[in-house]
Amino acid sequence: MIIKSATFLQSVADWRQCPEAHLPEYAFIGRSNVGKSSLINMLVNNSKLAKTSSKPGKTQTINHFLINKNWYLVDLPGYGYASISKTMRDKWQKMISDYLLYRGNLQIVFVLVDSRIEPQTIDLDFIDNLGEQGIPFAIIFTKADKLSSGKIQSHVQRFKNRLLETWESLPPTFVSSAETKKGKEEILQYIEQINQQFNKPNSTI
Ligand code: GTP
Ligand code: MG
Repeated sequence: MIIKSATFLQSVADWRQCPEAHLPEYAFIGRSNVGKSSLINMLVNNSKLAKTSSKPGKTQTINHFLINKNWYLVDLPGYGYASISKTMRDKWQKMISDYLLYRGNLQIVFVLVDSRIEPQTIDLDFIDNLGEQGIPFAIIFTKADKLSSGKIQSHVQRFKNRLLETWESLPPTFVSSAETKKGKEEILQYIEQINQQFNKPNSTI
């Protein structure tokens, strides 16, 4: 898919204030600092679109971007960010879980997982929750420029093995790097396929 335009629309703290739900939507979630905002910027060729930071906890709201005037990308706050009060953490958690549950045009949640480390319980639990609630998701293993491809493959395989302990089948998975742009074409192609389904008129049988 060619990205012709990518614009920031709005930043809200409640899913009910999100833009009109008439376009297909894709959200990025994952542990704080895993690279959500950087990946969004890489996908749309604009290093300044979503705010990134080397310090965890940068993204704190639901941020909508309009891409090619016909789909939304959404940057969400990370989970597992330790340096906030419990009240704030509970507030974020409710904001994110309500958004994921109620946002009707949400097509896929991309769960970002750090490719450099062993499977983490916090990611596996989050994915289990998505599955239990019937929220469709795919997994993106990030920061693949930081390790050899052999090590990354072994981390990815271990993560998949952990998922297969609970799930019968695996979701789509991608390996990405915001530095080298690895994964860009595959992820955009995957989104484009879903966009095409979304735009097909309902068949009348
Ligand atoms: P929060 O909004 O705080 O939850 O973080 P985030 O998941 O949006 O992470 P962000 O994109 O802000 O990136 C966090 C840090 O990781 C920044 O210093 C980025 O430059 C770095 N980073 C992100 N993606 C990559 C990558 O693919 N490779 C490398 N080497 N660094 C990355
Ligand atoms: Mg962010």
